[in-house]
Amino acid sequence: MNNLNELGGYGVAKNTVIVYETYYGATKQAAFKIARILEDEFNHEVTVHNIGKDRECPDLSTCDNIIIGSCIYNGTWACHVENFLSNTFDGKKTALFVCSMFAGEKSLYKQAYQSYLVNKLEKYDNFQPVSMEAFGGRVPDKEFPDEWVEQVAKKLPTFTTNNKDLTRVEKWAKELGKLL
Ligand SMILES: Cc1cc2nc3c(=O)[nH]c(=O)nc-3n(C[C@H](O)[C@H](O)[C@H](O)COP(=O)(O)O)c2cc1C
Repeated sequence: MNNLNELGGYGVAKNTVIVYETYYGATKQAAFKIARILEDEFNHEVTVHNIGKDRECPDLSTCDNIIIGSCIYNGTWACHVENFLSNTFDGKKTALFVCSMFAGEKSLYKQAYQSYLVNKLEKYDNFQPVSMEAFGGRVPDKEFPDEWVEQVAKKLPTFTTNNKDLTRVEKWAKELGKLL
């Protein structure tokens, strides 16, 4: 008898791989926050993999869950993680997330969720995620020409270069943990 399971705990460790791509760190931060919650609160064994940096993906054959995260630039996913979406995910539970400035803005969130997640999936009929979420981001203003920063920031109701919200990431990870 497994006492942990009997008490509603998580006795058998699930194996979860998080594959993400970031250019300036917001997506990485979200990926590690999700990993921490799944490890600490759901007893998952989690591997976090930056596919933009290391194209060789960890072995997926033994994992139970795959969580895929991308940064958004000019309306698109980062290319390596986008390519990763073409894999076969048979028998795995999957989830998706993106980090983008528009998603971090209340009035633009629905539009961002629709374009960066729902519309994106139309191209990929190989998997049906158990959950998807769009989080805010941060434009590192020193790294980009002012016009680029303004191009993004001026579309927001109030000028900001940072609307990351790790509390939302944490909340989603806790809900996701129950579904995986
Ligand atoms: C040149 C540029 C283009 C961007 N394009 C978009 C966009 O189309 N939609 C959006 O919501 N955010 C956009 N952003 C904001 C990024 O999604 C945000 O900075 C996010 O944090 C990027 O993730 P990363 O920090 O993991 O690279 C853009 C930022 C820059 C600098």
